[in-house]
This record gives sequence, structure tokens and C-alpha cells, in this order.
Amino acid sequence: MKVTVVGAGNVGATCAYALAHREICEEVVLLDVKEGLAEGKALDISQNAPIGIYDTRLLGVSQDYEKTEGSQVVVITSGRPRKPGMNRDDLIHTNARIVKTVVERIREGSPEAILIIVSNPLDVMTYQAHLSSGWDRTRVIGMAGVLDAARYKAFLAAELNVSPKEIQTLLLGGHGDTMVPLPRYTTVGGIPIHEFLEADRLDAIAQRTKVGGGELTKLLGTSAWYAPGGAAAQMVEAILRNQRRIFAACVRLEGEYGIDNCYLGVPVILGRQGVQKIISLQLQPEEQELLEISAEHVKDVMKARDRTEKEQGL
Ligand code: LAC
Repeated sequence: MKVTVVGAGNVGATCAYALAHREICEEVVLLDVKEGLAEGKALDISQNAPIGIYDTRLLGVSQDYEKTEGSQVVVITSGRPRKPGMNRDDLIHTNARIVKTVVERIREGSPEAILIIVSNPLDVMTYQAHLSSGWDRTRVIGMAGVLDAARYKAFLAAELNVSPKEIQTLLLGGHGDTMVPLPRYTTVGGIPIHEFLEADRLDAIAQRTKVGGGELTKLLGTSAWYAPGGAAAQMVEAILRNQRRIFAACVRLEGEYGIDNCYLGVPVILGRQGVQKIISLQLQPEEQELLEISAEHVKDVMKARDRTEKEQGL
């Protein structure tokens, strides 16, 4: 089995590193436009194999798409990262062009692949990948919910001084400041979160989660990579091992949650076929309202992508 990670920057290389440790495929191909970058990172990860003890093979290539042929899963991380002060939507034109080019090349050699999109603005890059591949929505999936939920869980675990393994949660909406954490679906060792924290503390943690990516961008001068790379690897594992795990992931909604033609994070069952099921929840009116606000925001950015394509071409 082969997995390709496109983009050998921080997120892509971290994803390849996490995949190597998980030993879920024979080979990880890391591809980048920059000569030497993917080769170097793949070589470094290969040399860690006797220390990390994995036998996953790593191959780094510069733009050599032939080497990616026959991939089961392709993770797309390429594109410019955020700089401090930028929001994810500022990257739209450059990254839409990059994602389009990558998907067109991948489609030729790996027509059966499942795509996991990590490039920002995430929801709209998933839209771009869907347009450029022409594939079914079940195989064009954006990674965001796993990362955003991980941030929420990490903050809650720290607040409660419990293991992050004990926290279960769900988070809906776009990968941006309009995301919708759901305390009602959050438990600690099976106990509802409300039994541990007052509403104002919960709100503060939800708020920090929403701007979690921005907090890191400010600290690091560029966007985060350990949790984003690890989150993408976790999704790859769910697919390759047919784990049928429930994650929030960005998919095209076609009427679910009363929302149509919008790419948005919702809970899905992820397995060998990609999105095996979209789970529809009975939301409370205020949760539904927040989800619709998030959908409106994503739709605006989708329209901005459409306009950019019309005016400047991609
Ligand atoms: C973040 C970027 C990867 O949320 O979107 O850190």
C-alpha cells in the first residue's frame, strides 16, 4: 500500500513522519516542488527508522508524480502557510492554483485514491479539490475537525488535569473562527463536561479553540505542524485500516443539516471507502444557527474562489 503526501513543508513532513511510525502502509512518497526538500526529509525520516523502529519505506521526490502512481490515499498539504495577522482566507488565489495543479496530476496516476486536503483555507481548498478531481464527495475530504477537536480536548484536559484520552468531543463547521465546538457532545470519561466546568469557563475554552491556529501562528511566525500533520495521519490510518472511526471532517453537504452545496465539517464515519456515512445530529436551535453562520462564511469564501478563477484564471 502506498500513501503520498504532497508538500514537504512542516505539515507534510510531520504527516509523513507520523505515518512512518504507524506502519500502516509499505511506502510513503513525499513530494515537493522545491528540489531536494522532499528527498532530504524522506532520507532523514528513513534514517530514524532504526531508532523509531518502523519498516515503512520513505521516498522523497521533486515533482516526479510517476513515483506517486497507485497511491491509495493522497494527503495534500501544499500551499503557502499563514503568516501572523493573515487569516486562512487570505491565501485563496495562490493556494487554489496550487491545489488544482496537484489534484490534476494526482488524478492521472492514482485514479482510485482518497484525497485528504490540509491546505488552507481548508474548506474551500476541499471544494477546489472536488472541482479539480471530479470525484465523488466520499473521497474528497478536508482535515480540520480532527485537529480542532484535538485542540479543544487538549485545553480541556489541561484545565481538568486529566488525560486527553478521557475527553470525547465533537466540533462542527468551517476550519476557522466560526467553527462550532459542541459542549453538549463533550464528555470526560463518559461524564458530561457540564459536571466539571461552569458555562463561562467552557465558553472561554471554546473561544480559545476557535482561534487556536491563530494563537500558534502568532507564536511561531507561521502555521502549526505537529497537531495538523498528526491529525492527517490519523485520518489516513482510519481509511487504510478500515477503522470506521467517527471524526468531524470537511465534506460537501448536499442537504444534510439543511445546508446545500457547502464544504463544512460534520461528523462522518471514516473507513476504506473514505466517508462511509455522514452523521446527521439533531442540533438545538442555537447550535444550528452557529452552524449556518459558519456555512455562510464558507460560502462567501467559495464565491471568492469562483470570482478569482473567473477574473484571473487558476
Ligand atoms: C492550523 C492551520 C494548519 O489550524 O490551519 O493550525
